[in-house]
Amino acid sequence: MYFHQKCGSVEYKNNLMSTKPSKSQGKRLVTIFGGGGYIGPIVARRLLNSGYIVRVVDLFLYGSQNVMLGLMDAPGFEVLNGDHANPNTVKKALMGATDVVILSGLVGDPITKKYPGVHRAVNDVGISRLIDQLDGQKLQRVIFVSTCSNYGFIRENQVADENFELKPLSLYAKAKVKAEKKLLALNGKTNFDVVILRFATAFGLAPRMRFDLTISQFVRQMALKNKLLVYDPDTWRPYCHVQDFAAVIHNALEAPNRAIKFEVFNAGGEANNYTKRMIVETILKFIPDAPIAYQDHGPDPRNYRVDFTKIRETLNFEPTYTIEDGIQELFSALKENLFPDIEHRLNFYGNYQVKYPAS
Ligand SMILES: NC(=O)c1ccc[n+]([C@@H]2O[C@H](COP(=O)([O-])OP(=O)(O)OC[C@H]3O[C@@H](n4cnc5c(N)ncnc54)[C@H](O)[C@@H]3O)[C@@H](O)[C@H]2O)c1
Repeated sequence: MYFHQKCGSVEYKNNLMSTKPSKSQGKRLVTIFGGGGYIGPIVARRLLNSGYIVRVVDLFLYGSQNVMLGLMDAPGFEVLNGDHANPNTVKKALMGATDVVILSGLVGDPITKKYPGVHRAVNDVGISRLIDQLDGQKLQRVIFVSTCSNYGFIRENQVADENFELKPLSLYAKAKVKAEKKLLALNGKTNFDVVILRFATAFGLAPRMRFDLTISQFVRQMALKNKLLVYDPDTWRPYCHVQDFAAVIHNALEAPNRAIKFEVFNAGGEANNYTKRMIVETILKFIPDAPIAYQDHGPDPRNYRVDFTKIRETLNFEPTYTIEDGIQELFSALKENLFPDIEHRLNFYGNYQVKYPAS
């Protein structure tokens, strides 16, 4: 299925786009693979507000198509429903594009462990093929969104900067490391620049919330007064608000070439390096009577604190949202019953099940 919207100069014929000289001349067209998930729509909105043409390409693994409706009124917004592993989809997706942002994939340790075959097809073979297809296109920038999970488990007294040894523990992070390497190996061989952004764990309100991520999951369980069992409460992770991630991507598109060319950046801020216990204690300020239990030796051994000096100094990026801000906004949204359908649409609100290829 191919949705489209006319955007000033952009027209489609037989699903192909032709650009006529008019208002959008000179505007950058950013194709966002995976723009229909948790983070993507926030990025799309920010870029549209800043005058970019935005094309979201997504196969909507979690049934999040309706989220796109909130963007359809924006001039310059287009949607292509398709698979990044399908060369025909990618060909259409790249037509006229000046820049690419890659968010697409099977995201998270649990789902990649549950569906190793889909993981291979999407995160390994699919991404590799997509990267191959970028060559020869008239692109300026390719932004690949990776993860701080690549650092895996690090010792208590250490903080990972971008040169820190990568020890990916999961299939998910291993595929991210592989894709990073493949993209960085293109240095000097392409006419576009590559930027790798290793994202912290996301929090914050979005049209497709993910209640399978630590902060949102904890806030919801505690708001429901369900007993929350917190494994390995003293393990560290960095977190970052989805609006701040949109700002990072925007900065990476606008920064001068010399600053970002084939560079890797941890994306987040030190103030949001938190342990799980610190998160729970912050939520308790809002929900003091929530029942909590702690247990060591849980199923997810990841423990990493991350250094964000490079992104602060090079891209001038500092998160604007604290973890407490994110908790407060989510708690307010839950109190106002803004997610009345969670129990009926569990898979929309988290990465739990997939059918691939989508039927
Ligand atoms: N959410 C986080 O905490 C976090 C942390 C670090 C890195 N990241 C990275 O940020 C990106 C976005 O994360 P998110 O939380 O929005 O994930 P998400 O699962 O909500 O979104 C991913 C989107 O990609 C789409 N997709 C999957 N396979 C596809 C394919 N083959 N072709 C086209 N579309 C496909 C899915 O349908 C989904 O809409 C991912 O690359 C993820 O690895 C996220």
